[in-house]
Amino acid sequence: MPRLVSHPDEVKIISRRFGQGAANIDRYLELGGYDSVRKCLEHDSEWIINEVKASNLRGRGGAGFSTGMKWSFVPKQSAKPKYVLVNGDESEPGTCKDHLIFLHDPHSVIEGTIIAGLAIGAKLGFIYLRGEYRYLLEIVEKAVADAYLRGFLGKNIFGSQSEFNIITQSGAGAYEVGEESALMESLEGKRGIPRIKPPFPAVVGLYGGPTVINNAETIATVPHIFAMGSAEYSNVGTPRNGGTRLFCLSGHLERTGVYELPMGYNLKKMIYEVGGGVRGGRGLKAVVPGGSSTPVLLPSEIENLGMDFDQVGKAGSMLGSGGVVVIDDQTCMVEFALRTIGFYQHESCGWCIPCREGTDWLKKSLTRFHAGFGSAKDIDNIQYLAENMLGRTFCPLGDAAAMPTIAFVKKFRSEFEDHLNGKPCPFAKEGVPQLTVV
Ligand SMILES: Cc1cc2nc3c(=O)[nH]c(=O)nc-3n(C[C@H](O)[C@H](O)[C@H](O)COP(=O)(O)O)c2cc1C
Repeated sequence: MPRLVSHPDEVKIISRRFGQGAANIDRYLELGGYDSVRKCLEHDSEWIINEVKASNLRGRGGAGFSTGMKWSFVPKQSAKPKYVLVNGDESEPGTCKDHLIFLHDPHSVIEGTIIAGLAIGAKLGFIYLRGEYRYLLEIVEKAVADAYLRGFLGKNIFGSQSEFNIITQSGAGAYEVGEESALMESLEGKRGIPRIKPPFPAVVGLYGGPTVINNAETIATVPHIFAMGSAEYSNVGTPRNGGTRLFCLSGHLERTGVYELPMGYNLKKMIYEVGGGVRGGRGLKAVVPGGSSTPVLLPSEIENLGMDFDQVGKAGSMLGSGGVVVIDDQTCMVEFALRTIGFYQHESCGWCIPCREGTDWLKKSLTRFHAGFGSAKDIDNIQYLAENMLGRTFCPLGDAAAMPTIAFVKKFRSEFEDHLNGKPCPFAKEGVPQLTVV
């Protein structure tokens, strides 16, 4: 069972029921659960969407798109059924927050899904969990079954005229199916590869019907917005970045863990105060701010950096999925780049050539380079290859591999140069075998 951590700076909204037994439906009700959906049932869909827009909630899956805006893109009239999809694929390295929601507060996901359904006029929602989260599936399925027994799901929910149903689905362990269109392919029982966009899911999504797809944290936040009121929720964060988010602090920190902090929280403070500083009193070399696909930042770039989508974007990276990975001064950045690209090479679905071949070549080049068999030309080639993948793939997995690679080369070129001419990795530790050339 993952350890629950806490810090006085936390503002507990999403995590307020963690550790309180709220997976039990009676306990969830005692803690104010399902009040928000009852409130929403008294209003029309436009009111619900406007409240979510006013909250300034932005998607927690990575891109940070306005949730209310996304919901408003779904056509009111549709010949085909509409759907709500909850993306619980959570596979981006450094990100480990959605699993806490499913574990401690699965009804908040169910409640948020029902509200999203009322907002867009859908009668069916799916909760899609990553393959490795099978142990959570039981918890979520029990919560769904309990909600049906109470009349919160099915026909005439909460005694109203509305109907809403939820189906749970487990993935089979592929990062790519976290991408929204690949997730839909997977749900339809096909190979998990991305679709060409446009059309976007809001218009043509699951089974060709208009579909809203949101990250699990985004959906779990929705009931809290209606409980607090959109203005109060929005005030917690920064302009255009409402509320809090679950930041996953990992890497070389004294106190790793998932902390709920207001949007805009200072990154340096997050590392040194919330995370307790770099492990063993070492120096900070770099930080990945939003999951492994986001470009690395140098200590000089985080001096006054507030962790919201706009500020991190301005600093040249992305807030992404909230996975903050701290890197100490004993880390070899060439090896870090290799590990990062190793993940994307393994997870590329192979559907489009720039991603399939690009990630493979990057991994081969970095492996050879790290082992000391590179040349000065290789450094430029790695950067050139990554730059040529950008924007040339069906889905952003290619960008997810290319963006961090470009940043590693640009910001740590001198470390790449240290590996030249057969020089072994300067950070190689005794007893740790050097990587071999493939
Ligand atoms: C390769 C890839 C993997 C992704 N994995 C996830 C994931 O595990 N969970 C997630 O919520 N979004 C993931 N996304 C983003 C989704 O495509 C989508 O933008 C998101 O679910 C939208 O929800 P939001 O608006 O609430 O953020 C991924 C995107 C890509 C390109």
